[in-house]
Amino acid sequence: MEKKQELYSGKAKSVFATDNDDFVVLSFRDDTSAFDGEKVEQLSRKGEINNKFNAFIMQYLADNGVPTHFESLINDTESVVKNMAMIPVECVVRNVATGSLVRRLGVEDGMELNPPVFEFFLKNDALHDPMVNEFHIETFGWAKAGDVSKMKDLTFKVNTLLKQLFADAGMVLVDYKLEFGLFNGEVYLGDEFSPDGCRLWDAQTRKKLDKDRFRQGLGGVIEAYEEVARRIGVPL
Ligand code: C5P
Repeated sequence: MEKKQELYSGKAKSVFATDNDDFVVLSFRDDTSAFDGEKVEQLSRKGEINNKFNAFIMQYLADNGVPTHFESLINDTESVVKNMAMIPVECVVRNVATGSLVRRLGVEDGMELNPPVFEFFLKNDALHDPMVNEFHIETFGWAKAGDVSKMKDLTFKVNTLLKQLFADAGMVLVDYKLEFGLFNGEVYLGDEFSPDGCRLWDAQTRKKLDKDRFRQGLGGVIEAYEEVARRIGVPL
């Protein structure tokens, strides 16, 4: 498959057309951003680690019945994925309270959430990704009711699968964000799953092993991503 012109450049990834309209190339860059793009740095090797991490997780999810856009790794920093119409809504599941949940509701940081909490956010930097509910999504036409329900079911299925995967490697999957899209009218998991879009804590020490290290200036960001990858067996 031939890589063609750039279609879109996001904060950490770029999307390129290919000679087949059904597929695009997802290119993972070293750019690391936080706070709606206010803090941006280049972290050497992050693109490569996230590309390989994402490929491993997407393959694991596909093997376990989650439809994903992932097709294949093509080099260290790029993968081929289905060319989807993205749904502009982020699906977040939280197993432990932290981050914006604690800021919004004043609940105790680190509190276990049983059952887990599910939240939708509108993908809109200018509005700072406001929280929305199913009514907003349907009324404003961001997704159809049936697709909203599929996104929710798939996001919980991912929780069951990945909570266990990370627990087996001595980590707590605290929370994560997923994005979905439509391909031939069907809902598929899109975007990426990497330590950029989830929170992972060491189960014993509660050491943060995800992008909070960057957000909070804790250092050792790439070392933490590599450690997570190594523990779950991602070939780097
Ligand atoms: O900031 P907040 O606590 O709402 O984030 C919840 C989860 O969603 C975290 O794992 C965070 O990394 C992820 N997230 C993301 N992209 C966003 C917002 C949140 O990956 N734009």
